[in-house]
Amino acid sequence: MTRILKPTPDGIAQAADLLRDGKLVAFGTETVYGLGANATSDTAVARIFAAKNRPRFNPLINHFPDAEAAFAQVEVNDLARRLADRFWPGPLTLVLPRGPNATICDLAAAGLPTLALRVPRGETARALLSAVGLPIAAPSANPSGRVSPSDAYHVLRGLEGRIEAILDSGPCSVGVESTVLDLSRPTPVLLRPGGITLEQLSDICGTVRHADDYASKRPIAPGLMASHYAPSLPVRLNAEHVGPDEALLAFGPPLPGSKLTWNLSEHGDLEEAAARLFSGLRFLDSEGERRGLSGIAAMTVPRHGLGLAILDRLRRAAAPRPPVSGDDDDLADAL
Ligand code: TXA
Ligand code: MG
Repeated sequence: MTRILKPTPDGIAQAADLLRDGKLVAFGTETVYGLGANATSDTAVARIFAAKNRPRFNPLINHFPDAEAAFAQVEVNDLARRLADRFWPGPLTLVLPRGPNATICDLAAAGLPTLALRVPRGETARALLSAVGLPIAAPSANPSGRVSPSDAYHVLRGLEGRIEAILDSGPCSVGVESTVLDLSRPTPVLLRPGGITLEQLSDICGTVRHADDYASKRPIAPGLMASHYAPSLPVRLNAEHVGPDEALLAFGPPLPGSKLTWNLSEHGDLEEAAARLFSGLRFLDSEGERRGLSGIAAMTVPRHGLGLAILDRLRRAAAPRPPVSGDDDDLADAL
């Protein structure tokens, strides 16, 4: 049974007790719901990988109530401090070399010599993290490879019975995951576009390289697999027309002829579009399937600001799918 806890002092205290006890608790942040566990315990973290069916080579983001607690885990540098001053609490994850006093377990880091750190902005998340007093590893609270959850109901749909509790703080305000920035290399590398835009980062970092710039065939962020955020219906990008049996994910004035439309933002506002993205994919997927439609046509969005994060998620939602795993209806992860 998965319990739903309210974001009251009592609900937060119960969630904190469960986490200290090695249990799994999903909680809302400003980006998406995270599936939390004690990051210092291999046993607790192993439960995350099991509940999500997540490949173990994919490391987790560790969450803290403030920058001081986060930086105690790593070899911190000046740029990290400036970014933290500017963007924490907020949707930015920093990757830094593991420090000598780190307490994060190897499984959470997938054995890497670096750690991913984040101080989320959501009020409930911060209250929970302060109450627990331990680093909390938390990937998005969805079965691996599927659409991320931007409200508590989404979490329940994907993970009911597999996790102890959900701390329900309502819908997430940003709606796409944090930006992941690798500061362990000479030049900062953008591993995942997200809630803090490249423009905002460049203000402080100057040059930022993109993970795609690296010629290496192996993705340098282990989690950057081509197929991810995948609804059941296939997704077609850059749609300029809608087929008779397609649902439409619109941005701005919708294309004509669609029988089922979710508009990310009628006025072309990228913040609104990010906040409505995952709900929209879920809605078109379930309603489209119910009506016997065969796919989702997605209009494009501008390539700046939060548009980069939205396009990244859409590209992964549209990528060729790995084969379906045998024992449940989740997609196996791409290797
Ligand atoms: O907004 C978010 O970041 C949400 C909320 C819950 O905080 N969390 C989230 O976690 O999106 P997850 O596990 O779904 O994505 C973590 C990403 C993966 O792409 C992973 O490979 C990368 O961060 N990552 C984690 N540790 C890393 C490391 N040491 N080096 C490189 N990439 C790392
Ligand atoms: Mg995720």
